[in-house]
Amino acid sequence: MRLWLRKRGTNVPDDRSGLVVAYWESHDEHLLTAGLGTIARRLPSLVAAALRLAWQASPRDTAVALVGNVAAGVFTVLGLVTTSEVLASLFAAGPTPDRVRAALPSLLLVAAATGLRGALLAGSGWAQARLKPLVERLAETRLFELTTRVELAAFDDHDFHNAMRRARDSGVPDTATVVETTIAVLTGAVGVLASAIALGLLHPILMPLLLVAAVPAGWAAVRMARLGYQAFYRLSAARRRKFMLSDLMAERQPAAEVRAFTLRDFLLGQYAKVADLEQGVQLDVARRRAVIKAGGDLMTGIATAGVYVALGALLAVGVIPLSVAGAAVLAIRAGQGSLTALIQTMNRLYEAGLYFGDYLAFREMAQERIPAPLSPPAEPAPFRLLTAENVTFTYPGADRPALSDVSVTVGRGEVIALVGENGSGKTTLAKLLAGLYRPQEGTIRWDGVDLGAFDGEALRRRISVIAQDHTRWPLTVRENIVMGRPLEEDRLAAASAAAGADEVVARLSDGYDALLDRRFRGGHDLSGGQWQRIAVARGFYRDAALVIFDEPTSALDARAEHALFERIRGHADGRTIVLITHRLASVRYADRIYVLDGGAIAEQGTHAELMERGGMYADLYELQASAFQAVP
Ligand SMILES: Nc1ncnc2c1ncn2[C@@H]1O[C@H](COP(=O)(O)OP(=O)(O)OP(=O)(O)O)[C@@H](O)[C@H]1O
Ligand SMILES: [Mg+2]
Repeated sequence: MRLWLRKRGTNVPDDRSGLVVAYWESHDEHLLTAGLGTIARRLPSLVAAALRLAWQASPRDTAVALVGNVAAGVFTVLGLVTTSEVLASLFAAGPTPDRVRAALPSLLLVAAATGLRGALLAGSGWAQARLKPLVERLAETRLFELTTRVELAAFDDHDFHNAMRRARDSGVPDTATVVETTIAVLTGAVGVLASAIALGLLHPILMPLLLVAAVPAGWAAVRMARLGYQAFYRLSAARRRKFMLSDLMAERQPAAEVRAFTLRDFLLGQYAKVADLEQGVQLDVARRRAVIKAGGDLMTGIATAGVYVALGALLAVGVIPLSVAGAAVLAIRAGQGSLTALIQTMNRLYEAGLYFGDYLAFREMAQERIPAPLSPPAEPAPFRLLTAENVTFTYPGADRPALSDVSVTVGRGEVIALVGENGSGKTTLAKLLAGLYRPQEGTIRWDGVDLGAFDGEALRRRISVIAQDHTRWPLTVRENIVMGRPLEEDRLAAASAAAGADEVVARLSDGYDALLDRRFRGGHDLSGGQWQRIAVARGFYRDAALVIFDEPTSALDARAEHALFERIRGHADGRTIVLITHRLASVRYADRIYVLDGGAIAEQGTHAELMERGGMYADLYELQASAFQAVP
């Protein structure tokens, strides 16, 4: 069957060429080939993990959902068996009113069983509905607790990053699906079991008839699910292209260039190609689904006819009475429905289970990447001296170290400058000094204690880093500067003034309350330089003894730049400063300048010493200075 589908599938090109498997399609191939046996083998561990999670989210709702379902199954059996008694009374000899009267007690019992079953299922459904958001929230909270704690280097690791995206995009939504479908599988199983037990109680010979009646529908359900995966798989590359194209055509960021480069027709043409492919696959799948459905229905019809013939024969030879045959028809119909639902939900559970597995695996992976300080972690002492000794650092997956054998010293109250060409390792060194990365070789000590001994959060509260690629937080101006620290208005005003952000705030109608995100109504956006002023104010607001400025003025106008460097030169209100900049005129006043070249310290000293030496620094300095000399 699979071969046939595969062969037929080649009618429509699937266009998977040239693309690596994306993180969200890593299980597609697996789904395509998994048989019912594989699925059944995986189910117990999946069900156990799902129920454990559900129990942690809400023991009461989990218990109600499970007990309600099982109890409803008991009432299904009771209802079916009592129906046979109702029929027996109705089919008995005698005047009709007497027969109806005789049937009444059983009829009331059937009504009560049906009512109770309905109530139990409703209660269980309500518990399930409450469980879903609770499970999703628990899964998401656990994920984010980990993603915000793992070491920064994990984000540079391709495998970790992929695993995280898989867990975030498919794993979290699928945890709720796994819990939901686990309960649906149990419901289906209880339904099938109830019908089988009812038939067994009516007459043991009736039990195999259920199997005959239900197998064709079950077969069709499995085939249809497989067909669904197949379409999904064939379309995965097209879907990726579509995501990409929709971002290009309907997002704010590329909108200007789409117009400036007159890309409209090109993009629409690409979109039409992808849409044609998608449409072709969808029509193909629809046709094949119709064929399978017709085949399944036909076989179900034949099987049902066979069941009726068998019932008729049993009736004719007097093995079962008419009332039992009538109740058996009802039980078989109910069982047929439950079995189809069971197989469908098993398929879904398996699919969701693969992504749920990713989620669990990611949590384990992340747990291993949480930096473990010595126990108990040391508290960083008031800052006196920060030293890096023979530090070597290589980014995950990189083939060359970004820093090799680097030693620097930052004393309290000093202004230290790091200069060097693009890619020479300045930002990397700053991140190591801030404890964001750990060196593979060498040590970084804070007042003599290795940074690894500190609780990371406690350490980073003492250091303020204004990153080169600072984040444009989609929050209000106030939140952008205060960044989760307690709000102190005086401090906020001082930090803004120091960074020139007060001028930015003055232009905004909502002042500090202006939301810096255009995606929301009333949101504002800022210019590159205005954003940089906000980032610098954020650095000043933190009550940190050591401030690391990584290219703080790259987007600032001349006046703002001058003001900021003046402040830094004045030790920014008593702080210790590590300054990274390409504007060499501004580092002349630094207590010490380190010149990096290819990840190593090439020169170090004061401006005067380095100029005297006539090395790399002197060359770069002369080059910049010459640009300002009058053109002859
Ligand atoms: N996250 C990363 N993963 C892998 N390699 C990186 C990463 N960040 C930087 N690098 C590499 O490490 C080296 C040093 O980069 P770094 O950002 O420290 O340079 P820089 O001196 O700050 O340069 P610039 O003046 O351009 O800011 C470069 O070769 C760069 O390509
Ligand atoms: Mg840099």
